[in-house]
Amino acid sequence: MEDSLKSFCFVLGSGSAGKLLLMVSFFRFRIAAMDNTSKFPDRRLNVAPMMDWTDRHCRYFHRILAPSALLYTEMVTTGAVLHGNLERLIGFNPEEHPLALQLGGSDPADLAESARIAQEYGYDEINLNVGCPSDRVQRGRFGACLMLEPALVRDCVSAMRDAVEIPVTVKTRLGVDDCFSYDYFSNFVDEVAKSGCQVFIVHARKALLAGLSPKENRDVPELHHDWVYRLKSERPELTIVLNGGITTKAQAIEPLDALDGVMLGRAAYHTPWLLAGLQQEIFGSRGVESREEAVGIMTRYIRRQSAEGVPVKNISRHVLGLFQGLPGARRWRRYISENAHLDAGNDRLLLQALDHMQRGIAIAPGSVAVHENALE
Ligand SMILES: Cc1cc2nc3c(=O)[nH]c(=O)nc-3n(C[C@H](O)[C@H](O)[C@H](O)COP(=O)(O)O)c2cc1C
Repeated sequence: MEDSLKSFCFVLGSGSAGKLLLMVSFFRFRIAAMDNTSKFPDRRLNVAPMMDWTDRHCRYFHRILAPSALLYTEMVTTGAVLHGNLERLIGFNPEEHPLALQLGGSDPADLAESARIAQEYGYDEINLNVGCPSDRVQRGRFGACLMLEPALVRDCVSAMRDAVEIPVTVKTRLGVDDCFSYDYFSNFVDEVAKSGCQVFIVHARKALLAGLSPKENRDVPELHHDWVYRLKSERPELTIVLNGGITTKAQAIEPLDALDGVMLGRAAYHTPWLLAGLQQEIFGSRGVESREEAVGIMTRYIRRQSAEGVPVKNISRHVLGLFQGLPGARRWRRYISENAHLDAGNDRLLLQALDHMQRGIAIAPGSVAVHENALE
């Protein structure tokens, strides 16, 4: 702890007026992260699994904004877990708890063994992907096409539950192709629930297995949040989390009266400060006080990671949306995009981007005043 504090102060430089402020926030962040583990499972706020996006660096960033959110990894296939480099594929920072590993697969024995490995690795939950429509996933006979095989999903979840003590949950859609009606959806859930699975995260649209790209499959099929509400009202004993199309604080808060939680994907990634607002609104506590404070913590994180050989751009790409919607957001994004790869070892990139952005705002006519608590 002391070592990490020393390195944190090093990032800030000596004699900085912001040093004390950031030391305090550093401790607060650590304490919030610790508290957070004991509150699990609180499923009111979830950040979706997103391939290529929610890697460990992204999750670390989301964690400082929303200490109480449940975070999900990208989908990892059972083949990768069983035969790949585990640390690279499923390694995570201790601060990321509570954290769920999302698995892709359809062989009960492989899923069970992968779940066991994940539990041993320290994950808090295993989630089975029954929603991904990509061709690659279909060829492997898992993801969304598993909605066509409810008994197999039941058996997969049973095998996983037998192998671990941590919760096993399912992320599903409403249906696939022509298997798309409220009855089909609720029967699917009932069949899977026979395994003992009690938590269903529902991306509230169907998937079309042919003719749409994965990206189109996240937008084109119509959303039916009402099906998710109906499922919960008819099966109150199940824990039901709503996913799909939630982009504002109000849209995220409202379902919590009737449902157990909301899961945000694209909005969390593109407008991450939304997570800070939801942390405050839902849990009545804060991760960080300001975006600038988040920049300070991420700078320290970048410093630590780049010392281990991680390119700065692997981390900085996830914070591009931090100032989204504010004056200067473009300058922030552009500075990072243009400079992240130039000097791969530049662990002060975010501080420089912040400075660059604030100078731009200060000189723009009619601009909003910048914060005085600049980091340097
Ligand atoms: C880039 C990207 C990658 C995704 N990868 C996964 C994945 O690995 N597993 C999964 O279950 N869903 C994946 N999804 C779907 C999201 O988890 C979520 O269900 C979907 O984006 C709808 O939520 P939203 O409208 O809040 O974004 C992905 C979405 C995006 C945008």
